[in-house]
Amino acid sequence: MTEKLPVLVTPGVPDNLIRLLESDFTLVREPGPGIAILVTTGGDGADAAAMDACPDLRLISVMAVGYDKVDVAYAKARGIAVTNTPDVLTDDVADLALALMLSVFRRLPAQDLYVRQGRWARDGNPPLSRSLSGRRIGILGLGRIGRAIAERVQPIAGEIAYYARGARADAPWRFEPDPVELGRWSDVMVVAVAGGGPTKGLVSREVIGALGPDGVLVNIARGSVVDEPALVEALVSGRLGGAGLDVFADEPNVPEALLGLETVVLLPHQGSATIETRGAMAKLAADNVIAFAGGGPLLTPV
Ligand code: GLV
Repeated sequence: MTEKLPVLVTPGVPDNLIRLLESDFTLVREPGPGIAILVTTGGDGADAAAMDACPDLRLISVMAVGYDKVDVAYAKARGIAVTNTPDVLTDDVADLALALMLSVFRRLPAQDLYVRQGRWARDGNPPLSRSLSGRRIGILGLGRIGRAIAERVQPIAGEIAYYARGARADAPWRFEPDPVELGRWSDVMVVAVAGGGPTKGLVSREVIGALGPDGVLVNIARGSVVDEPALVEALVSGRLGGAGLDVFADEPNVPEALLGLETVVLLPHQGSATIETRGAMAKLAADNVIAFAGGGPLLTPV
């Protein structure tokens, strides 16, 4: 019997992926020579130092669609392939974006609390919420997930516009090349661009100001895309109407000032966090490792 290849797994790699790998590979927790495969998560990533600690590294399999915490340029320079898990999570992330929009406009967490606290019976009906139907929905980033969000809101939106690096010939929605203009136009702006250097702070103080006191920001992408201190200030002062946030700049730490605000809905990075999707992501991450070990083409190289 041939010896099993070692695979280095980072601390965040979940059990479902471990189970898919442990029969074919020797899973190790410490870097070192002789390790060709690293399996990591979106949160753990892999920086240059992590790669340098494994001089024989040839593959980084990321169990996430976002690989902003992987130094891909460094990996390329060292001849290390990187794979991610696109497509399998698109539906769940887009569903959650819609859920966040509805939650903010219809004040679902506050209404739920109202019932639980016995206030319905004690104080009568709660204040009215606001319609999502008929709103102008701006989508920042028209990749797989942005497009799936646009398709989901199509039946209820008044109008849809999107920002991307260029107009998409196959997209029926209005292209807006300036994020500030998109903010001015939008009733709700949904952030769906990939995280990382090129999009850092794309939702600037100015964009947030352009959304204004009736505007809502929804972020299912990465906290780094938004100027978080500016966002917090705008929400606290009422210069931004509301926000639905699944991602933050320094997860799992959420700015204290947001915790008491009824105008925001806060989620602990749940976009892809369903049993079904996490199962599919684990399988794809494992299949990339298996393909690499078998000398076959990678399924989803970045
Ligand atoms: C989740 O945030 C992912 O990138 O898959």
